[in-house]
Amino acid sequence: MTQADLSTHWAGVSLSSCIVNASGAWCSTFAELMDLTESTSGAVLTKSATLYPRKGNLEPRYFQWTYGSINSMGLPNLGIDFYLDFIRSQGAKKPIFLSLAAMNPEELSKLLQRLRKLDFPVVTELNLSCPNLIGKPQLAYDFSCVEEILKKVFDFYEFPLGVKLPPYFDTIHFEEMAELLNCFPLKFVTCINSPGNALFVDPQTESVVIKPKEGFGGIGGPCIKPIALANVNKFFKLLKSDIQLIGCGGVSSGQDIFEHILCGASLVQVGTQLMKEGPGVFERLQEELCVILDRKSYTSIEEFRGKLKSLG
Ligand code: SIN
Repeated sequence: MTQADLSTHWAGVSLSSCIVNASGAWCSTFAELMDLTESTSGAVLTKSATLYPRKGNLEPRYFQWTYGSINSMGLPNLGIDFYLDFIRSQGAKKPIFLSLAAMNPEELSKLLQRLRKLDFPVVTELNLSCPNLIGKPQLAYDFSCVEEILKKVFDFYEFPLGVKLPPYFDTIHFEEMAELLNCFPLKFVTCINSPGNALFVDPQTESVVIKPKEGFGGIGGPCIKPIALANVNKFFKLLKSDIQLIGCGGVSSGQDIFEHILCGASLVQVGTQLMKEGPGVFERLQEELCVILDRKSYTSIEEFRGKLKSLG
């Protein structure tokens, strides 16, 4: 078997592998981040950092079953300074990217001002789609709010930045959001965050399985793959070509990664399966993807990226 080239680039940074963690999965604490640094993932993406550390929602707040997971974490994280210190401390061992979330526009502005003062550019995924903030809406379902945020951001911010979106389900929403995003110098768009406010019921206990929001939470894992692929492919077709698509959602095998890339993703993130299997997952997924590429005589991901065929 020849070893296919799984390398890619993300916001201009070269990565040896197109498979990385999804923000939120195994990337909150020093130990978790070190695990990822030492794994074969193409890069490390941090938990969404806020200006100050947050404890997040009450536990239990994460549950998984065969076909998926449900969470209402509420953005527990160690605060921006911790994640920036981690990035600084690791030097050039492996690309480390930052996920960022803000509770309000003032906080976002403070966070970005902090990044601007760094003497090294940090590629940042701005999370506009957390479904688990009690009393707050998912930002990216409010289109004028997204426009306002991005106008403010790109007024002064020049480091590489992308956004993480929630899933959309209607053609008009895909088109309107893409038109809006195309007005800004975004480097990438990540599709999708977990579909929010889903409910998992345990028939034995006749109960919900997580505590916050009466059991409602964001779902991940195999059950969301078709939604994720639809969002990746729609935005791949609608966004200008210099905005990369990052696929996230429903990845538990090399075949899932192949499908995301076929739909247009330059890079694929793993969430629920990383939580289930631990950082060894990257090696397995790389091997499985290599077998598929070899069988199809592809030598790199660029040979089939975005080439999903239609029927007729
Ligand atoms: C959370 O911390 O609630 C999950 C983060 C997210 O889905 O954006």
